[in-house]
Amino acid sequence: MKVCVIGSGGREHSIAWKLSKSSNVEKIFCIPGNGGTIQIGENISLNLKPPFSDLIKFVKDNSVDLVVVGPEIPLVNGIVDFLSKEGIKAFGPTSDASMIEGSKVFAKLLMKKNNIPTSDFEVFSDFDSAKKFLESRSDKSQVDWVIKVNGLAAGKGVMVPSTVDEGIKFLEDVFVSKKFGDSGDKVVIEKKIEGFEVSFFVITDGKDVKFVSTAQDHKRAFDGDKGPNTGGMGAYSPVPFITKDFINKVMKMIVYPTIEALGKENIVYKGVLYCGLMVDKEGNPYVLEFNCRFGDPEAQAILPLIKTDVYEIFQATTEGLLSKVKFEMYEKFSGVVVLASKGYPEDYEKGKEITGDLSEKDNSIVFHAGTTLSNGKLVTNGGRVLNVVGISSSLKEALSVSYQRIKDIHFEGMFYRSDIGKKVLEEE
Ligand code: GLY
Repeated sequence: MKVCVIGSGGREHSIAWKLSKSSNVEKIFCIPGNGGTIQIGENISLNLKPPFSDLIKFVKDNSVDLVVVGPEIPLVNGIVDFLSKEGIKAFGPTSDASMIEGSKVFAKLLMKKNNIPTSDFEVFSDFDSAKKFLESRSDKSQVDWVIKVNGLAAGKGVMVPSTVDEGIKFLEDVFVSKKFGDSGDKVVIEKKIEGFEVSFFVITDGKDVKFVSTAQDHKRAFDGDKGPNTGGMGAYSPVPFITKDFINKVMKMIVYPTIEALGKENIVYKGVLYCGLMVDKEGNPYVLEFNCRFGDPEAQAILPLIKTDVYEIFQATTEGLLSKVKFEMYEKFSGVVVLASKGYPEDYEKGKEITGDLSEKDNSIVFHAGTTLSNGKLVTNGGRVLNVVGISSSLKEALSVSYQRIKDIHFEGMFYRSDIGKKVLEEE
């Protein structure tokens, strides 16, 4: 079978790598791919804007059997709808279904209407009423609310203000400076919930649901959860203290009701459903957000632990035959440490030569993100550059494998967090 993987990050390298292990897959095209995907497939540069005509032509000309979509933007833009209309199989939710990530307002209203646990919220479409709400519900020095822009914002659309003034400044950015463009047409202001965050992943064809795994991301740039928010500086999977009972509770209270709720809106959800959860002191899960795809870097932690042939999973999902697949995970842990370019998530330089051993080992893989080949050399080409993955029967050992490997990898300006998984290991 021939497969196209859409995207260029670490998540897409991990998807392509996992597909390359399938006996069903003979050829992988990565569109556009990165310096890592080129080692297992062919990188192709194509226009990926609706109506996706270049992609449709490429798929037909090359007899591609399946398209697997990594990132949210093409999903929200309807890539799966356009491909399906041409009879092309594509793994990922349709544009309507992707609204679960593409519109925070849609997701919150869906949850409210269907009693899916999430925090209290109000929706605003202008600066004055949003400001008035925030001021009237907060002390000057303490804000118990979180502001989220409605649309996609590359991880930058959420503000947890520590003061009312900080919240108002964000609302100005959204409604006055229009920093988020159309994504800031509305905001959700929701009550803050204290607890610990867990990313909860399932794959569904709209009828059957397979629980995949849990993971924990590290969103801040620096150790101790300091510094600006990033796409994610590291992750581990599964989260050790998550029990079978908790998984069943989330499936019953959140996952099944969400898929049913979408069904009531005539939306069949097919693909990965990523539930970003906050778990309170009593162990009750609340949905912070839904995403319509694998997380990045969570995918780099989870995909190596999937035992079942992922081509079969993706293919069966597109055909509504997921119930026929026996889904299995390896009983192991993985840890991912992201190596980033100095300056990320703000401005950073590109083109720095990467040296060191990046080869695959029995207990470790290095997935590329912002890398490319230039004059035969591997160089940096993005903010998040490499994902160093360690795998072991213990989480401690998995993380130690990643940190050990990093000692041998170098590029100018490289930085990484040295405390991935530290908190959970201390609690264990
Ligand atoms: N790592 C967070 C995300 O993929 O949204």
